[in-house]
Amino acid sequence: IDELLAQGVSGKRVFVRADLNVPLDGTTITDDGRIRAVVPTVKALAAAGARVVVASHLGRPKGAPDPAFSLAPAAARLGELLGADVAFATDTVGDSAQAVVAGLADGRVAVLENLRFNAGETSKDDAERGAFADLLATLADVYVGDGFGAVHRKHASVFDLPARLPHYAGYLIATEVGVLKKLTEDVRRPYVVALGGSKVSDKIGVIDNLLDKADRILIGGGMVFTFLAAKGHEVGTSLLQEDQKQKCLEYLAEAERRGVEFVLPVDILVSDGFPDLKAKAPTHPETVAADAMPAGKLGLDIGPDTRKLYAAKLADAGTVFWNGPMGVFEHPDYAEGTRAVAQALLDAPGFTVVGGGDSAAAVRTLGFDENAFGHISTGGGASLEYLEGKTLPGLAALED
Ligand code: 3PG
Repeated sequence: IDELLAQGVSGKRVFVRADLNVPLDGTTITDDGRIRAVVPTVKALAAAGARVVVASHLGRPKGAPDPAFSLAPAAARLGELLGADVAFATDTVGDSAQAVVAGLADGRVAVLENLRFNAGETSKDDAERGAFADLLATLADVYVGDGFGAVHRKHASVFDLPARLPHYAGYLIATEVGVLKKLTEDVRRPYVVALGGSKVSDKIGVIDNLLDKADRILIGGGMVFTFLAAKGHEVGTSLLQEDQKQKCLEYLAEAERRGVEFVLPVDILVSDGFPDLKAKAPTHPETVAADAMPAGKLGLDIGPDTRKLYAAKLADAGTVFWNGPMGVFEHPDYAEGTRAVAQALLDAPGFTVVGGGDSAAAVRTLGFDENAFGHISTGGGASLEYLEGKTLPGLAALED
């Protein structure tokens, strides 16, 4: 983007592909981290006199307008953060978008409605995606990719549009890639990886890849129960991916073969059912040994001994990558595991990276100072896929 700014962008329509996919409660944004992350790029372009057209997806609407997934709240928040009026187009490539972009003065910013209200955005069909990218291209002279959270998606605005316009990487993408590159190249040891979140299948690639990089892998979140079940333990009504059990056993064996410490929880907080995340009423969880979970109980967080164990495993870390909450942190009864891991990252002597929309949101909603971490990535799937060593369509499209 510095190269673009040096050439001069005054009067040019610059399309900024951001990731404004923020968590919403109705129309209230519960964590605005991803919006704040794109502000430096938007500000720099606007200050240089560009007509900035910001576009993003939000959630997973079904290729047609759906008010529940409108970007209007995100556009309003971007305006507050910029301290400037932001125009909002109520469609993406239709009359509203055309009129809003045509009416943009130099140095002003507009946000388009959710890209995924158009089936072409996420289509698997190259021609359909291409046709949508052609329409988007009519709205801009230059493309700036800065939606790091979405670079692993081969979507029209991420992959096809940059091929149709002069293209540059924004500040956020440059920073994110710089940090993650460090994790794949020169890590200070011990390199400890903490993986949470619900599905083993989402983490398979990264576990595979990390087995020859990390010194220790700590497992938390819903994934735990597939590992426990694979080892032959009762997991009650907890989340379980039956078809991933074999893979879990292979990981455990492979970790042992390579001398990687693969650490599973020793105790679990359980309850009778899933807690009400809105009312947040007390649920009186029980702590049980991980290898003796009662039938009929649902595991919702790592237990107190595991919190201590994981803190100890992180205490001397030279490098940490953490992705995925340890439990259902949105409910106070099950937030302690995630809180303990976040605190252990802060206490660790090394460089700490929090990767992922959920863990980043957890860190902020639990009241931690985000600046105290080495880096908080805006990308969940994107940072994992980067660490897996995959080619990310949204980065490949910017590379030349
Ligand atoms: C994310 O939240 O990881 C990104 O915004 C991508 O969203 P998606 O998983 O719906 O493509």
